[in-house]
Amino acid sequence: MTPFTAGLLARKPVDRILRDSAAEHEGPQLKRSMGLGHLTALSIGASLGTGIFVILGEATPDAGPAVIVAFILAAVTALFSALSYAEMAGTIPVSGSSYSYAYATIGELFAWVCGWCLLLEYGVSVAAVAVGWGQYINELLHTVFGVQLPTALAAPPGDGGVVNVPAMVIVALACLVLVGGATESARLNTAMVVLKVCVLVFFCAIAFTAFDAGNLQPFMPFGVGGVTAAAAMVFFSYIGFDAASTAGNEAKNPTRDLPRAIILSLGIITLLYCLVALAAVGAMPWQEFGGTEASLAKILTDVTQSTWPSVVLSIGAVIAIASVVLAVLYGQTRILYTMGSDGLVPPVFAKVNPRTFVPVRNILIVGTLVALLAGLVPLGELANATSIGSLFAFALVNIGVIVLRYTRPDLPRTFRTPLFPLVPVLGVLFCVLLMFQMKAPTWIAFGLWTVVGLAVYFAYGYRNSRLRDGVAKASR
Ligand code: ALA
Repeated sequence: MTPFTAGLLARKPVDRILRDSAAEHEGPQLKRSMGLGHLTALSIGASLGTGIFVILGEATPDAGPAVIVAFILAAVTALFSALSYAEMAGTIPVSGSSYSYAYATIGELFAWVCGWCLLLEYGVSVAAVAVGWGQYINELLHTVFGVQLPTALAAPPGDGGVVNVPAMVIVALACLVLVGGATESARLNTAMVVLKVCVLVFFCAIAFTAFDAGNLQPFMPFGVGGVTAAAAMVFFSYIGFDAASTAGNEAKNPTRDLPRAIILSLGIITLLYCLVALAAVGAMPWQEFGGTEASLAKILTDVTQSTWPSVVLSIGAVIAIASVVLAVLYGQTRILYTMGSDGLVPPVFAKVNPRTFVPVRNILIVGTLVALLAGLVPLGELANATSIGSLFAFALVNIGVIVLRYTRPDLPRTFRTPLFPLVPVLGVLFCVLLMFQMKAPTWIAFGLWTVVGLAVYFAYGYRNSRLRDGVAKASR
């Protein structure tokens, strides 16, 4: 093997990842302050958002009442990968998530591509989520106060506006919280998670009073095809269950708590999603969903004959989506922190503030870029490509579990995926299957994104990799 290919395929040994994460930098380190509750809330915070509040209404016309089955199918797909994440997070409990797992198992080039996909899953998607938050807050202002921001200030150029101010404001607020400290951010996120769960329970409590079993007939008007298409759509609502794995360096007891938090959060959101979907299709005939975003609010208004419950729901959605922004931005900064420690992105991302023990400059850079993306760029296909990017990262984690079981059977594992190797193999298959449900423009956006990523890698990461130093020296 030439030094060039050896470098590309170099793996970072697990022991070195763990040693580095314990004492990589001179100077201040991230602080271990998060317990199981905070970690679970981090994953729920990152996942429970637009998917249930918005996409449920859009997917129901495709699947009919069987949209519930679509949520279960998507949950099973997520579960295979979640089990693999749980095993990896318990074995390599560092903040780099799937990027670090790929680095340890299939080599630097794949780790980079994975990290680059995580920029889509976290950085680009959080910009898109912030845009959705802006739309919600604008609608809420309209319903409650009868005022609305002019389009010029509520949409980016290309979408009929000049700048999307609310989207930039929510990103700025989230950064402010993150700069304040990890404990403070985790506490606020946990409070918002409790609130959003309560609002969905409130929705179920009202919608179930109007439950009519007749609304579930015919159950599958568009057959299996309709259900799988809807499953591919609602898979988006599960993305984020992996967020706890970006807190490896800040968890008090990472090997024990990370696997638990990942599985627990997926269980909680699956239960909630299925209940909300059942309550919704039981309360309103599926034909009336009509692809509108406001389906849940409409159900509440129809059932109660008053508008206040739908205002409560809208406030819940505003809080829910704000916590997605907070949790996902947190994850993005910690992944870049790890990549910065490895030299694949500039070291400024790995600098920790000695007073607050968080990577302040990293947060400010990420916040500025995400705010600019959210405020000024119509994200279009790039936002759609986030699901493909996430699925690709999930697939690599499943592969990583298989590789590590064979290459390092001796490593202590606090969690093992059951039925190995069936579960990770199914995990890869399901991810690939869902990727192929995505449409051509999404693939093109994803392809271009990857090409840009590779260019960045060869221009910077390849030259500055800390591991590369070692490999080059060893092969001389
Ligand atoms: N799962 C997240 C949401 O539904 C991305 O908003």
